[in-house]
Amino acid sequence: MTKVITYGTYDMLHQGHINLLKRARDLGDHLIVGVTSEDFDKARGKINVRQSLMERVEAVKSLGIADEVIVEEYAGQKIDDILRYGIDIFTVGSDWEGYFDYLGKWCRVIYLDRTEGISSSELRSESYNVRLGIVADNQYAEKIIRESNYVNGLTISGAYVPPPCNLALANGPGNAVHSFESLSDLLEHSDAVSVVVKPHLHYQIIRAALEAGKHVLCEPPLVLDSIQDEQLRQLAQEKELVLTEGIKTAYSTAYRRFIRLVQSGRIGKIISVDTTCTSKADLESKKPEELENLWGSLCGWGPMALLPIFQLLGTNYKRKTIITSLADSDVKFDLFTKIDFLFPSATASIKVAKGAKSEGGLVVTGTEGYGYIPAPWWKTDYFELRFENPSENQRFFYQLDGEGIRLELVSFLRSIEAGSRELCLDEDIGRAITEVLQDFYQGKDVEYLA
Ligand code: CTP
Repeated sequence: MTKVITYGTYDMLHQGHINLLKRARDLGDHLIVGVTSEDFDKARGKINVRQSLMERVEAVKSLGIADEVIVEEYAGQKIDDILRYGIDIFTVGSDWEGYFDYLGKWCRVIYLDRTEGISSSELRSESYNVRLGIVADNQYAEKIIRESNYVNGLTISGAYVPPPCNLALANGPGNAVHSFESLSDLLEHSDAVSVVVKPHLHYQIIRAALEAGKHVLCEPPLVLDSIQDEQLRQLAQEKELVLTEGIKTAYSTAYRRFIRLVQSGRIGKIISVDTTCTSKADLESKKPEELENLWGSLCGWGPMALLPIFQLLGTNYKRKTIITSLADSDVKFDLFTKIDFLFPSATASIKVAKGAKSEGGLVVTGTEGYGYIPAPWWKTDYFELRFENPSENQRFFYQLDGEGIRLELVSFLRSIEAGSRELCLDEDIGRAITEVLQDFYQGKDVEYLA
C-alpha cells in the first residue's frame, strides 16, 4: 500500500485545494491530510486565516477525498508524521517547489501543479475589503501602513496630515502614500481611519470620522477628558461603528499568552503588577514651547504601561498617587512619572519616562511565583514564570510579527466585519486610561518633584 501525505491551511476551501487533494490521492492508496493549527499558522506569519481549525478540518473531511485528517502543530512535525505513519510520498503544490526537498531523506517528494488563478488569500480579500485612511502627524503611521500590507482585506486609501505638520508618508522606499487635502476628502474615500496624531487633536477627528460613518482605530489615549471619551464611545455605539484604541502590545501573541497564564492562577493570587516603559528622547535641544508639542512621558507611554494593570486587576482601584517631574513648570511635559495604585487586594505601579532611563520590564508578583517579561516588555516574543524552586521555572517563546500591529489590524478588521467590538480592547480599560490622563493634566492626585 502506498501512503501519501500532504499539508495545508485549507482556509475557505476552494477548487485549487480540491484539485490538489484529488491529485495527491491518485498518487497512492491511502491519503493523509495535515491541516495547520492556528498557532502554527501564526508562527509562520500566516495571520489572516478566516476559519477556525475545526471548520477547516470539517471542510477537508466532508470532501471525502482524504482517508485520514490530522493536525499540523509544530515546525518539524512533517518528519515525525512521515516516520509515524510510514509515509511513502510527501506531496504539496508547486508553489512550494524545492522547499521540502529535505524530506527526500525519509520519503519521495512530489510537487504537484498548482491550480492557477485561485487562492485563499484572494478569496479573503474579495470577500471583504476595508479602505483604511490614515490621519497622521508623525512617522509611526508608516509602521501601520507597512503592516497593513500583511493583512488581507485591508487597503490604504491615503493619508491626511493636519497642518501645520508637514509629513510625507510612504509605503516602503519610493512608494508615496496618496495624500488628501482635507479630512473630509480622506473620509469620503475610506471605510475606516487610523488616527496617529497628538491626543489634543483626537476628539475633533474621531467625531468627524464617526459622524461620517467611519470606523476608528486610534493611537492611545483616545482623548484626555472623560466626558469627551464617553461622548465618542456613545456616538460609535449609536452608529454601530467600531471605535478602539490601538495598543499594539494587547494583540501580540506572547503578551496575550502571558496575561492568560497569569489569570489562570499559575503564579497564585496576584499581589502586585509593576511596569516600566522608558525611552530617552533628545529633549535638551528643545525649547519649552517645542516640548509642548511633543507627547510627554505619561501621554506617550502611559496607556501601554497601564494596560497589564487594568487587564489583570480591573479598573476599580481605590486610590492612586502620581509623582511626576516636569521639564518646566509652565509646560506639562513630564520627563518622568510614577503612579502607585491601591486595589482592594493588590497593588500596582507604573514608571514611564522620556527624560530618564530605567529597566523596561513587567513583573507580576504572585503568592506562588512571579511572571516576568524582560525589557522591552511591550514588544516581546518571550516571557518567564519563575518560582522559589528554579527547576519549576518555565520559559515561553512566541513569534512577534510587526510588534503586534499586524494582529491589531486583523482584530480591527474582524471586528468591523463581525459588527462587534468583542475582539477589541475592553472599553472599561480605555475609559480608565483616559481618567488617569485627565487627572494627571488636571493635577489631581499629583505630587511634583522639584
Ligand atoms: N493549492 C493549489 N492550488 C491553488 C491553491 C492551493 O494546488 N490555487 C495547494 C497548495 O499548493 C497546497 C494546498 O493546496 O499544497 C493547500 O494550500 P493552502 O496554503 O491552504 O492554500 P492557498 O490558497 O495557497 O492559501 P493562501 O492564499 O492563504 O496561501
